[in-house]
Amino acid sequence: MNITVIGAGRVGSSVALNCSLRELGDVLLLDIVEGLPQGEAMDINHQLAEQGIDCIARGSNNYEDMRGSDFVIVVAGVGRKPGMTRMDLLKTNADIVKGVCDKIKNYAPDSKIIVVTNPLDPLTYLVLKSLGRKRTQVMGMGGMLDLSRFKEHISTVTGISRDSIQAMVISEHGENMLPLVRFSSLGGIPLTEFISTEQSKDLATKTKGIAAEVISLKGATVYAPGNAVSTMVESIIKNKKAILPVSALLEGEYGYNDVCIGVPCVLGHEGMEKIIELKLDESEKKVFDLGVQSVKNAIQSFSL
Ligand code: NAI
Repeated sequence: MNITVIGAGRVGSSVALNCSLRELGDVLLLDIVEGLPQGEAMDINHQLAEQGIDCIARGSNNYEDMRGSDFVIVVAGVGRKPGMTRMDLLKTNADIVKGVCDKIKNYAPDSKIIVVTNPLDPLTYLVLKSLGRKRTQVMGMGGMLDLSRFKEHISTVTGISRDSIQAMVISEHGENMLPLVRFSSLGGIPLTEFISTEQSKDLATKTKGIAAEVISLKGATVYAPGNAVSTMVESIIKNKKAILPVSALLEGEYGYNDVCIGVPCVLGHEGMEKIIELKLDESEKKVFDLGVQSVKNAIQSFSL
């Protein structure tokens, strides 16, 4: 497999490292900054060599090198600064991502694409529509990262092993994120058996706010997003059919059309193979509806 990561910054290099460590394929890091992707690739290869992993990382400033890629991960763009929301990045990153789409069209027309650049859901939609692809081939990573954070909080609150946790986070990767306590479990036992209503509200609030805290402390989130992307790539390459939170194009599911938003999806060889529809209760639906509205408002600002 050939995996191209466009944007060799903090998250892009972490994506490359995580995909290589899982031996998912050879990775090409592409960036407009000269030297950066080459340096990241060298550093990654040194770690892989010591670990006896034969996947090769390469770095380039030339988009032609991505010709024939099986996967393209779009991570190019600016990150938010302390105090900013992801939506504040819309205009700047939409322009960058449009340019990236032209390159994908030319050099990797059959690739599967995972969008990471924020604001995640509107930009996943932008990529899908700009390239005129099927919804199976273009998806966004946001909910997978929110899920990592939700799991960490669940483990802290309950004192139970992270390994026993099954959970789900849907809706917008942003202000209307929806960690689903009702659909989470520990060793197959509903999470609601372990925590109070008050604790469950607190879990949701903490999951939503924690990225801003990391950004204020170290400037960016890096390791968990790299891992989250590689989990999605792995499920597709190995045809695992894992159910993961993915930003996908809705075609009637959850009562909506023509919007990309986080929902549970089955990932296999075809890419985003199926959307699982959950029966949301009134309060969950309220947050989901707000998420859809927020993404739709952002989408309206694009000229496609
Ligand atoms: P960064 O600033 O470290 O790296 C971004 C890289 O993109 C830079 O090296 C820059 O030179 C490059 N770039 C810009 N325009 C380019 C182009 N046209 N072609 C190739 N490369 C280009 O930023 P970081 O921290 O890696 O974040 C990248 C994006 O990912 C941000 O939008 C951030 O908000 C988003 N993000 C999304 C997450 C998610 O869960 N969806 C999680 C973490 C970050």
